[in-house]
Amino acid sequence: MKIIRTLPSMTAWSERLRREGVTIGFVPTMGALHDGHRSLIRAARLQCDALVVSIFVNPTQFSPTEDLAKYPRPIAKDRSLCRAEGVDVCFEPTAQAMYPEGFQTVVTVPAITKLWEGASRPHHFGGVAVVVTKLFGMVRPHVALFGQKDYQQAALVRQLVQDLNLGVKIQIRPTVREQDGLAMSSRNVYLNTDERMIAPWLSRALRAGKQAIEGGMKDGAAIERSMRKTIEQAPAIQVEYLALCDPDSLEPLTRFTRRAVILGAIRIGSIRLIDNLLVNVPGGKNRAR
Ligand code: PAJ
Repeated sequence: MKIIRTLPSMTAWSERLRREGVTIGFVPTMGALHDGHRSLIRAARLQCDALVVSIFVNPTQFSPTEDLAKYPRPIAKDRSLCRAEGVDVCFEPTAQAMYPEGFQTVVTVPAITKLWEGASRPHHFGGVAVVVTKLFGMVRPHVALFGQKDYQQAALVRQLVQDLNLGVKIQIRPTVREQDGLAMSSRNVYLNTDERMIAPWLSRALRAGKQAIEGGMKDGAAIERSMRKTIEQAPAIQVEYLALCDPDSLEPLTRFTRRAVILGAIRIGSIRLIDNLLVNVPGGKNRAR
């Protein structure tokens, strides 16, 4: 496995392979790799000739009060996971090279990022949009894989690629979970034993919502209430949002009969967790709030 650190050498590598007709798969990450990342890497490995994983803790998607400095960076472990999964290139650019003095471009995808994570973390998606655009420019992948775990991020990337004609096929893969339902996340290492015990209640609440819908409940407010009631059984959880949304626009839905995504974010102490579930209900049409 090759480790590439500079931007021009990444582009040169990709350009050479593209000229040879090789298909390039790409999994962008911030490292601290777990089985969620691994599932993206494996899926990419199966469909591409060459596979690039980027490991870059992108400073522009953290606000000054967030966890940039303490974000886990187990680089040796990450590299060995990549090696074991047959990754061809681990791309590890520096923040200095990515954001040299004088950098000024912004990339905004306003409608999709207005609510939910975008409302809670106003800087976040601007940083994600810029870094993904830059990484695509350097890696020049044919296909890039993202996790459903970060549903709004995946929606943003889809929109960005479509609007800016970036020519990358985007694939969204299912969320990988711990046995008790907790969605895997690099941030789960912040949870102490007690917090880890209650963390799965977010996925339980989402499942309660999904079951209510599948059981025929159509009243969005009532479904949201039943999810809150589920999560209130757990101590010390603050709900930021638990919402039924249109899976494409991410606008809230009060009534629906077709498809929805349930988005959730909670706080346990200072730790913020997000999760989501897609729900399919046959027949009918969505109506936005
Ligand atoms: P990171 O949190 O490292 O996640 C990298 C990719 O792994 C994202 O597409 C994310 O949705 C996916 N992922 C995380 N947990 C997952 C899980 N439990 N199951 C399946 N996929 C999962 O997301 C980012 O980094 C950054 O914002 C990035 C896109 C790299 C831009 O900086």
